[in-house]
Amino acid sequence: MGIANLMFLLILFVNGVFGVDTDAVKTLELMEGEPVILDTCITKLQKDDVVEWKFGSNVIATIKANNPLLYDTADARFTDKLQINDQTGDLTIRNTRTTHSGLYEVKITNITHTTHRRFSVTVLDPIPTKVSVTEGDSAILKPNIGDIDMYDVIDWKFEDRSTPIAQINKQNGKNPSYDETDEQFRDRLHLDQTGFLTITNTKTTDSGLYKLQVIGTNIAIKHRKFRVTVNESGLSTGSIFLICVCVIGLILAVVGFFICKRRRSQQGGDKGNEVQDRLKSSSEPL
Ligand SMILES: *[C@@H]1O[C@H](CO)[C@@H](O)[C@H](O)[C@H]1NC(C)=O
Repeated sequence: MGIANLMFLLILFVNGVFGVDTDAVKTLELMEGEPVILDTCITKLQKDDVVEWKFGSNVIATIKANNPLLYDTADARFTDKLQINDQTGDLTIRNTRTTHSGLYEVKITNITHTTHRRFSVTVLDPIPTKVSVTEGDSAILKPNIGDIDMYDVIDWKFEDRSTPIAQINKQNGKNPSYDETDEQFRDRLHLDQTGFLTITNTKTTDSGLYKLQVIGTNIAIKHRKFRVTVNESGLSTGSIFLICVCVIGLILAVVGFFICKRRRSQQGGDKGNEVQDRLKSSSEPL
């Protein structure tokens, strides 16, 4: 028996005893804020079973000797987000963000088998609602969250600013608060209990992305986005200049026309007199 055949038999033997099952990748798609459960398909873990969850190449959760442990990536994207079921090994990611998109893999090892399951998770960004207003008008951002009463915090952010521009934190009462250090929106924001944000006396610099987050206890975070465009009011300086040029041109043309007409009618009058004179002189001898 050759070495190759021996190896082949050995591999068969190893596979037979320590089976490696790899399922097809399970694809999951959800909206930001929604939780996702990645399941091991195991009903009850045995004492010696080892469960290891990976996100890309990072180990994020393990169960060894019935002892569940949670880890995080270097950028801390899983802080307070993970939950592992110590009976089944199922992993839950709560309050998901788009940064949780990627490939997750679980390796379950028992005395005889190693099982792999893979999940391709896509967390979708909410599509921004477009709001377009003319400079000086009010822009009203209406998130229309039906169960907004259930949430404790209503939090509006603008572009990449980390401090909310407007917020209601029901734990501190019902009154909205606005970023006091903010110069741009000073005295121009109004947030109400429905989460509607009104920007009064808009400026073109108010154009941009407005992000709402509503947070509650025992309820998934909700996210909404608004893309606001504030258009310049009335006519631009360029078009005013163009209109002035046209009006002046038109006036010149009209004045020119009347001057010419007058000149011609004067000349015409002279000619008429000449003719009459000639007629007179020719009739004289009669
Ligand atoms: C080990 O895992 C395999 C695959 O999930 C399963 O079929 C088998 O019953 C398990 N063995 C024990 C002893 O739990």
